[in-house]
Amino acid sequence: MNNLTPTREQRTAALEGLGCKRKRVEDIRFTQGKGNYVDDLKLPGMLHGDFVRSPHAHARVKSINSEEALKVPGVLAVITAETLKTVNLAWMPTLAGDVQMVLADGKVLFQNQEVAFVVATDRYAADDGINKVVVEYEPLPALIDPFKAMDKDAPVLREDLVGKTTGAHGPRKHHNHIFEWTVGDKDLTDAAFKKADVTIKEMISYHRTHPSPLETCQCVCSFDKIRGELTIWGTFQAPHVIRTVVSLIAKLPEQKIHVISPDIGGGFGNKVGAYPGYICAAVASIVTGKPVKWVEDRIENLTATSFARDYHMTTEIAATKDGKVTGLRVHVLADHGAFDACADPSKWPAGFFNIVTGSYDFPTAHLSVDGIYTNKAPGGVAYRCSFRVTEAAYCIERGMDILAQKLGMDPAELRLKNFIKAEQFPYHSALGWEYDSGDYHTAMMKMMETVKYAELRKEQAEKRAAFKRGETREIMGLGVSFFTEIVGAGPSKNCDILGIAMFDSCEIRMHPTGAGIARMGTKSQGQGHETTWAQIIATEIGIPADNIMVEEGNTDTAPYGLGTYGSRSTPVAGAAIAMAARKIKAKAQMIAAYRLEVHEDDLEWDIDGFRVKGLPEKTMSMKDICWAAYNSVPPGMEPGLEAVSYYDPPNMTYPFGAYICVMDIDVDTGVYKVRRFYALDDCGTRINPMIIEGQVHGGLTEAFAIAMGQEIRYDETGNVVTGSFMDFFMPTAVETPHWETDFTVTPSPHHPIGAKGVGESPNVGGVPAFSNAVNDAFSFLGSTHIQMPHDYWRNWRAAKNLGVFA
Ligand code: CDP
Repeated sequence: MNNLTPTREQRTAALEGLGCKRKRVEDIRFTQGKGNYVDDLKLPGMLHGDFVRSPHAHARVKSINSEEALKVPGVLAVITAETLKTVNLAWMPTLAGDVQMVLADGKVLFQNQEVAFVVATDRYAADDGINKVVVEYEPLPALIDPFKAMDKDAPVLREDLVGKTTGAHGPRKHHNHIFEWTVGDKDLTDAAFKKADVTIKEMISYHRTHPSPLETCQCVCSFDKIRGELTIWGTFQAPHVIRTVVSLIAKLPEQKIHVISPDIGGGFGNKVGAYPGYICAAVASIVTGKPVKWVEDRIENLTATSFARDYHMTTEIAATKDGKVTGLRVHVLADHGAFDACADPSKWPAGFFNIVTGSYDFPTAHLSVDGIYTNKAPGGVAYRCSFRVTEAAYCIERGMDILAQKLGMDPAELRLKNFIKAEQFPYHSALGWEYDSGDYHTAMMKMMETVKYAELRKEQAEKRAAFKRGETREIMGLGVSFFTEIVGAGPSKNCDILGIAMFDSCEIRMHPTGAGIARMGTKSQGQGHETTWAQIIATEIGIPADNIMVEEGNTDTAPYGLGTYGSRSTPVAGAAIAMAARKIKAKAQMIAAYRLEVHEDDLEWDIDGFRVKGLPEKTMSMKDICWAAYNSVPPGMEPGLEAVSYYDPPNMTYPFGAYICVMDIDVDTGVYKVRRFYALDDCGTRINPMIIEGQVHGGLTEAFAIAMGQEIRYDETGNVVTGSFMDFFMPTAVETPHWETDFTVTPSPHHPIGAKGVGESPNVGGVPAFSNAVNDAFSFLGSTHIQMPHDYWRNWRAAKNLGVFA
């Protein structure tokens, strides 16, 4: 070795592997405006489609007259449910086992429901066309309040289901009932409540909101009549699933369908499901033989594509008088809108809501969920959360604060007293999950020490006293939140989408020069997969991340995968990537042994290649092995160096975190100020700390939006009153608080590199932190629970209701 020989540290750093703050490779094109999104696609002869939508939330469609529309220059066709019936596509199956109208068939069930699809030579002509389609409606009473859905005299929404007493998830109790889902031990839980020293009961609502990615949902469909092939470019978070669904419902052979997700401008769950726009654009292309583009506008996206949350959770906790929890009972009224189009794994009608016991050692729990129909848009997607986990975290984290208030205990102390202890992992929760790993006490203590929690509580007590003396009109809240997430759907034994097990995949091909291409079944929508997936491979096989090209989103080239949502990419595809890389390494070891003329077992791995045990100068680098794989492999071995892995995880991963929000609220105006927000996340092994930080910043900003103002709100007739960014709170850099981030590392014991997901954790933990801060601020005035979102007006109203203006 001379002084030009790189050190071990230099060799490791050159790989830019696990733990490196590698700069995002995709940003080279994004920051120069060179991303390639669906709407950038311009094909020769391309047509444009746009929807006629219902102004009513509930109405019978008496007639649709397209005569005048067809006279508009450029308008070529108006597609209605009657047209779709000729190809058996008037209704489509949903991911939740229901069916959904593609275009209004006899009636409309929510405002802005798709009624007709106008196809024209350009978007402007299509828009002119939709204004000329005359639809005659007979308005019907709208059902908006979920608590009235199962009233005896509630209007019948789904006439197609009349007489059906069983749905996809069991018996239906009422004409607007979808399913009842129960988990846990009811008798044991009831007994715990009978014996309890202290109980709390509160109706905690998580309002309806929307993922609202900056790029709306869109597609271009192009049918090649000669080849009988359909190519769809779309904003799909799960392109392979879309291909399978299109094949099943359009009866086209799957190999003749090509689905391509180009760059995607945010998804957050909004781009998982199948929307009428995709079906109509495909049918229009098949009919006209021309490519057809459909691009939603903002109002359409907010009002007609998948919403999130809308869970109304009656929450009860039983405890001893010294604050040990003994039982949890939750009933959820789940408002699913007009069709049950929730994007959950098939067997989970309320997603993974049964993670609702959270981070606490509940000896027993019982959960029941009733899904119901209302005259609202369908959906129920995991908006930056893993299948109703954020609802569950909000429910238990508000519940714990309410219990602390009743017991007169500090909320942090109550949590510390009830945490699952590090030595209890793997931990079996009362509602059926096996938590893989965690060290909650360490995380909580780190948070409390960093923010000087005890001093903050002292300051709060002084401020409260000053408020009572009339010396200040400002109140202070400390929002503590400790969450446990469940991500990485999922083991095939309990998770599938339309019967397809939720594994994920990776294919790696190494080229002779020591470079390679890796393809996955996932699809980044901004999470930086092109950067981080290469980092996993770099550490596993000793090839610099820069030499690995990552490609996702083309069903013709990528191995079958279930896509990216619910922070499943790292837990599932991340594992598949490591396993595929290990197959490459195993073959590489055989090639190296042959070339170095030793037995394989005499080799050991050393950062970027193999060396002979005991003879450190006898080495072969991975780069050289790649070359050898194409010219001198051992006799009998196939040349080449590539591998595929389909990974079926043995369990989910359970990331966790300790958050705190310090907030000041002016009671006279309701104006709040987030003084400090500290977020500690534990996502196991950290692939790229810089990307994790970005994920946490983004997730916290969305949590801030949801907790403090963002809402899809309806008036009593079913009009959406927050249908644009004028009313739907979308924070900019001006409103967004400063974020402090921190971490602990508790690796997942079953993941090949110990990593857990992180993308949605900040949303899951952030919302209760904000809401607990507001509720904590008002609690000394006698309030127990104030519903979200906590905008200025609602804060002012809370102050008024609590008598501060008397
Ligand atoms: O499924 P999705 O990509 O939305 O979520 P994720 O698996 O939590 O990953 C989000 C981003 O954070 C990806 O670029 C991951 O590679 C990165 N990440 C990381 O660097 N380390 C982790 N332990 C988890 C995620």
